[in-house]
Amino acid sequence: MSLCLKTPRQSPKKSKTPPNRRNACTSRLHARHLRLGFVNPRLVPLLDRQIIVQTILWGNANRLVKCAVDEFKAGDDIMQPANVYGHLVVQLAERVGPTGRFELRNVTPIQVARSRKKLARFPHATVLHANAIEPYGRERDGVCCFFLLHEVPDNYKYQVVDNVLAAVRPGGKAVFVDYHQWNRFHPMGPIM
Ligand SMILES: C[S@@+](CC[C@H](N)C(=O)[O-])C[C@H]1O[C@@H](n2cnc3c(N)ncnc32)[C@H](O)[C@@H]1O
Repeated sequence: MSLCLKTPRQSPKKSKTPPNRRNACTSRLHARHLRLGFVNPRLVPLLDRQIIVQTILWGNANRLVKCAVDEFKAGDDIMQPANVYGHLVVQLAERVGPTGRFELRNVTPIQVARSRKKLARFPHATVLHANAIEPYGRERDGVCCFFLLHEVPDNYKYQVVDNVLAAVRPGGKAVFVDYHQWNRFHPMGPIM
């Protein structure tokens, strides 16, 4: 199983819309998308299950989670710029253990509250309310960016990748796991 960095192959297409309006527009789309599955207080508890993540990721979630977690070791100081439903965040906190540090961030308050509950038994884990396009502060041993890039507008993707790379110390690990460009003859292509 490979870890994929889904980066556009070329710089963004030139648009006639001024950058400020373009950013505002993609940010509004992003906000609408977030409201659908990550903000609605009735949906969030239903969706925050590993079986849902397994379904969204076509049965590959557990393998991908294992691949990501295996990149880190006990004692590492790591962060994740946006959480994922299911058990990944708990597994990362368990992996680095009490001698390590795990910082999780999320842009939506309900997800922050949920993650704080999930991670309450790990004193070495902290959850911050923050947007992944804001800088991540100090350098760390690793950053795990799990299925965030496909969620955010293109202008955000560049900032997120820059932030991740800037937050990893020399010799540390930037781990990106995300959908890659599908083969145009793949039967699931139209659904994705
Ligand atoms: C990382 S993606 C993971 C989606 C994946 N399909 C899953 O199984 O959950 C979803 C999370 O990212 C968060 N998120 C989206 N955009 C963000 C941003 N710009 N900064 C921080 N968190 C963000 C959402 O609040 C949500 O909790």
